[in-house]
Amino acid sequence: MTTDTELFLITGAAGKTGAHTVELLLERGHQVRALVHAVDERASRLAEHGAEIVAGDLLDFSAVSSAMRGVTAAYLCYPITPGLVDVTAIFAQAASEAGVHAVVNMSQISARREAKSDSARAHWISERMLDRTTLVTTHLRPTFFTNWQYDFWVRQGNEGIYRLPFGDVRHAPIDAADQARVIAAILQNPRPHDRQIYPLYGDKELNYYEIAAKVQETLGIPVRYEPIDIPTFAAGLVAAGVLPFRVQHLSSVAQDYLDGVFSGTNNLVEVIGGTKPRTIEDSVAATRSLFETDGVCGITDARLHAA
Ligand SMILES: NC(=O)c1ccc[n+]([C@@H]2O[C@H](COP(=O)([O-])OP(=O)(O)OC[C@H]3O[C@@H](n4cnc5c(N)ncnc54)[C@H](OP(=O)(O)O)[C@@H]3O)[C@@H](O)[C@H]2O)c1
Repeated sequence: MTTDTELFLITGAAGKTGAHTVELLLERGHQVRALVHAVDERASRLAEHGAEIVAGDLLDFSAVSSAMRGVTAAYLCYPITPGLVDVTAIFAQAASEAGVHAVVNMSQISARREAKSDSARAHWISERMLDRTTLVTTHLRPTFFTNWQYDFWVRQGNEGIYRLPFGDVRHAPIDAADQARVIAAILQNPRPHDRQIYPLYGDKELNYYEIAAKVQETLGIPVRYEPIDIPTFAAGLVAAGVLPFRVQHLSSVAQDYLDGVFSGTNNLVEVIGGTKPRTIEDSVAATRSLFETDGVCGITDARLHAA
């Protein structure tokens, strides 16, 4: 049941932050249009919760224009894949023509003019492009998400291994559900957040030795961290079938990580989203079954030897 005439457009709606945001806004009684890339079981779940589903490509101006009709505020979320600057231009033009009031833009903590990652630099350019519109605009710059804990997981018999090029540098992994609370809160009341850039962090800064220990404690199996160097990491990703744009991004931000770009904490999740961020133990426990098998990007022995 909806409580008002506001309509929120959520792009990347089947993805990690998008799906949680759709569900949260629906729970709060709002009308939600979910833009999905393809109609599949993820879209059906959103429809069952009450979302209006539209399928479309964010690179297709007429599809995005249609999706903007009647929208009050929109969440822009595009994955780490080529095309973000075009997507942002299309989104900004379509939203402006449709009289959309506000946008919440998913960016990255590594978004900088001088970023070596093509994805991070595209995020920085996209932020600046949106700042030049009349849309009330907020940029979110999260550190690494907690889904890294299973994406880069290697399950070897009864133990788990993380092979990552992160030395002993710390960051505070952030859960998609915590980001959704921030996104929903800003969409519901965007004006105080206009032109703000919000770095977002999870509960606590940890290095990968400490992350491995927490995952071990949660899953009840031995888990270790084996630091590797960035070229070995990049070659392992190629062996895992990761596409070149993403390999370029991940190996570039690995150096950023070592340089402390992903480190830090603040209280924005609690102040804007209304609750403290989840702990890593909570995030792992909520996705326990995923740890039975290798993560898609995990540097397994075979991938390590191919590297
Ligand atoms: N993961 C991290 O650690 C991290 C850290 C900081 C910032 N970020 C930022 O977070 C963003 C990704 O957010 P997320 O993880 O919530 O998203 P996500 O899970 O990667 O989902 C993105 C969604 O976009 C859809 N999509 C892909 N191509 C599309 C297209 N051409 N048109 C329309 N939809 C398309 C995908 O649909 P299909 O699956 O059906 O293709 C998917 O459902 C990126 O901008 C990234 O830079 C990520």
